[in-house]
Amino acid sequence: MTQFVDSPHRYGLVTRIFHWGMALLFAAQFASAAAHWALPRENALRDTLWSYHFNLGATLLLLVLLRGVWGLWNLRHRPSESGLMGSAAKAGHAALYALMIIVPALKIIGSAGSTRGFSYLGLQIFPARETAIAWTNTISE
Ligand code: HEM
Repeated sequence: MTQFVDSPHRYGLVTRIFHWGMALLFAAQFASAAAHWALPRENALRDTLWSYHFNLGATLLLLVLLRGVWGLWNLRHRPSESGLMGSAAKAGHAALYALMIIVPALKIIGSAGSTRGFSYLGLQIFPARETAIAWTNTISE
């Protein structure tokens, strides 16, 4: 059991799987966005990579929430750094967590108010609207 949870000397297995697993998934997410932006329309690679962008983005949002709960649960016995480096690390982590929540959340809100709607893993969460809501589109953009 001890290897699963964090200790003052080392992050535990669960934290390390969250860390490296999500790093890998974020790389795939940015690859899909980069291909969508850089490759011409009607390109097979662009379509393939973009096909998972919405599902993976929503999965990353769920994972970051789980990871946040796990981090808070382990907060008292995680490795910690004092001084300026420690404060910089805390501020950096807070900013990353905020972005990992805000970016997908705004995109989901944008999709919910759009004529496209939002489905997760084939399950319709928000139906397509006849007319798009202007403010959800604005914050998503
Ligand atoms: C952590 C999660 C996510 C990351 C890191 C991410 C990353 C990106 C990046 C870098 C871009 C290109 C820049 C831009 O056009 O704004 C982009 C575009 C986009 N993303 Fe995501 N995204 C995430 C989640 C989502 C989710 C959950 C959705 C939908 C529900 C979504 C829908 C879109 C759309 C519609 C675009 C614009 C594509 C276009 O220009 O036609 N993203 N994303």
